[in-house]
Formats: sequence, C-alpha cells, structure tokens
Amino acid sequence: MSSLLEVENLHVWFELEGERELHAVQGVSFTLEPGERLGLVGESGCGKTTSVLGVLGLLPPSASVAGRVLLNGEDILAGGEETIRPHRWVDLAIVFQGAMNALNPVKTVGSQIVEALELHGQASGRAARVRAGELLNSVGIPAERTDRFPHEFSGGMRQRAAIAMALACNPSVLVADEPTTALDVMVQAQILELLDSLCNDFGLALLLVTHDLPVVAELCDRAAVMYAGEIVEYGPVDALYHEPRHPYTRLLFAATPDLYGRGVPVSIPGAPPRLDLPLYGCPFHPRCDRAFTRCKDEHPALKELGGSRSAACHLNDVVAKTA
Ligand SMILES: Nc1ncnc2c1ncn2[C@@H]1O[C@H](COP(=O)(O)OP(=O)(O)OP(=O)(O)O)[C@@H](O)[C@H]1O
Ligand SMILES: [Mg+2]
Repeated sequence: MSSLLEVENLHVWFELEGERELHAVQGVSFTLEPGERLGLVGESGCGKTTSVLGVLGLLPPSASVAGRVLLNGEDILAGGEETIRPHRWVDLAIVFQGAMNALNPVKTVGSQIVEALELHGQASGRAARVRAGELLNSVGIPAERTDRFPHEFSGGMRQRAAIAMALACNPSVLVADEPTTALDVMVQAQILELLDSLCNDFGLALLLVTHDLPVVAELCDRAAVMYAGEIVEYGPVDALYHEPRHPYTRLLFAATPDLYGRGVPVSIPGAPPRLDLPLYGCPFHPRCDRAFTRCKDEHPALKELGGSRSAACHLNDVVAKTA
C-alpha cells in the first residue's frame, strides 16, 4: 500500500551568480501517512523550507529539482506544473513561513479567504462568504470578524487566518512552515493547540517545519532532523529524544530548553557548512564532539537502525549507541 505522501530522494540546486550553484536539499526522503504528524527540524539554512517548497512545486525558476513526490502513489512532480496544480491546495496545502505577515493589508481577511475559495472553484458569491466565516470559525475566529482588516488582528489571529486560508479546499496534508515563530509563548501554545485539534477533527496529516524541537516534541509522532540539506536522523520523536543516534540530534535537544525544565541549554559550537561549496566527509564532523578519522573522509549514508528509525552517523557502525 502506498503512503499518503512519499518524498523520494529530493534534491534542489539553486543557480547562483558566476555559474556557481548551491545544493540546498541533498537527497531528502520521508513518508507521511493519513492523520500522521511529522516534524522537519533543524537549524536555520539547513533546507527545510526549500524541501517543502520543492514538494509543492513552488520553487523559483533559479531552482533545479530532482527526485519523486508521490501522493497516494502518483508522482505529482513528474509532469511539472500540470501534474502538481490539481493537487496543490486541494490535497496538499501550505501555511508559508511568515504567512501571517503576508496578508494583503488593504483587503479584509474575509475577502481574502473568499478570493482563495473562488480561485480554487470551491464556492462563489454568498456561499463563499458563508464558507469563509465557517473556515474562520474553525480556527477560532468569530465569523463577525470576517470583515476586519489584517491590522485589526493580533499576530496570533493573523496566523489563524493564514491557517484558515490553507484549509479552504479541505486538504489531506497541511504543511506548516514555522507556524509559531515570532509569536509570544502563550500564543504559540494556542496555535499548537489549534493545529492539534485541526488534525484530530479533520484527520489532517501535518508536516510541521520548525527549528524548535520542543514544538515538534509537543505535536509530532515522528521527526526528521535536517543538517546541511540532508536528513541525518529520522524516527519516532520519543526515541530521538531519549536515545538519539546522531550527535547532532543530541546536541540539538541539549541546545533547547529542557521539556521538563531541567538543565541549562547548551549551544552547539560553530556553524553549519556553506552549501555552495563541496562538502567532504560527514557535514557535521567539524562541530561534532564524537568525530573520529573516518568522519573527515567518508560521507555517512542514512542507515536503518531498527525500530522505524534511521541515522547517518559512522558511530552507529562502531557501537550500538552513539549519543
Ligand atoms: N532562492 C534562493 N536562491 C539561492 N539560495 C537559496 C534560495 N532560497 C534558499 N536558499 C539557500 O538554500 C539553503 C536552505 O535554505 P532554506 O530557506 O530552505 O532553509 P531553512 O532550513 O528553511 O532555514 P530557516 O530556518 O532560516 O527558515 C540556504 O543556504 C539558503 O541560503
Ligand atoms: Mg525556512
């Protein structure tokens, strides 16, 4: 049986000036089942947004894409825009990074949702206005606020409106790119609660993109940890937290406030590598506290480790447990 969404060996290169290129996504693969929540997590610049924009066929012309994206077994990237367009928003919808700041300031929130409904042939005229009110209601915004402008909404309400817009065509997969970044802690919690109940109520599958591990731990079943354009560890969130099999996962957990309020966050020294230059060995080895000779020379492949998890670390060949 095919997965709801299966991303296979996705690569993205951006063309840069002077005939240079930047290999932003380097062979990313993951699956998503109906109603499942997968977190895509990693430091800034590791390729999270590029990966999800690649999945939705929304990258700029300067990008070249390779790999397959199967939706219920159908390769939706194979025929370019023509094969993806019928599925974008209808089956696969996205709340873009920074979406809450991208609402049109001179149009009411309701009219922007009506436009989205009409554009996708979901409803028109009065029916679209009623549906816009229902959608806003489903994200916790009273229908009487439909005719307000974005500046009359708080940050949290604008984010709710952006989520409502993504739900206009009843998608089966919602991609949310950093949906809680730039919101205060209380509002973050409310948005996470909203995503949780939308997934439960509508059976939505969620691909949650964030640099914030506690957010993933709170909401997701599984996580894919990205580093320098690759997935370096993949598996159930609990297993990654309690027994990370890649030093980067361990250090990433240590760098975020402890979920149970224990310990002091420790930052990861150094910075991720540039993706416009060739990488040698393990991309994480210059920052790794467990690196050994092989890590400098040989790129580690993502290997299955049992228990529905995998990691790309040579230490897993040496000892049973890395971190
Ligand atoms: N249009 C573009 N042209 C050239 N390079 C790009 C473009 N978009 C992204 N990149 C580069 O691709 C890499 C991955 O960027 P991406 O935005 O996917 O990272 P991210 O993990 O989403 O980071 P953040 O957490 O900051 O949102 C970075 O090196 C970035 O500079
Ligand atoms: Mg991003």
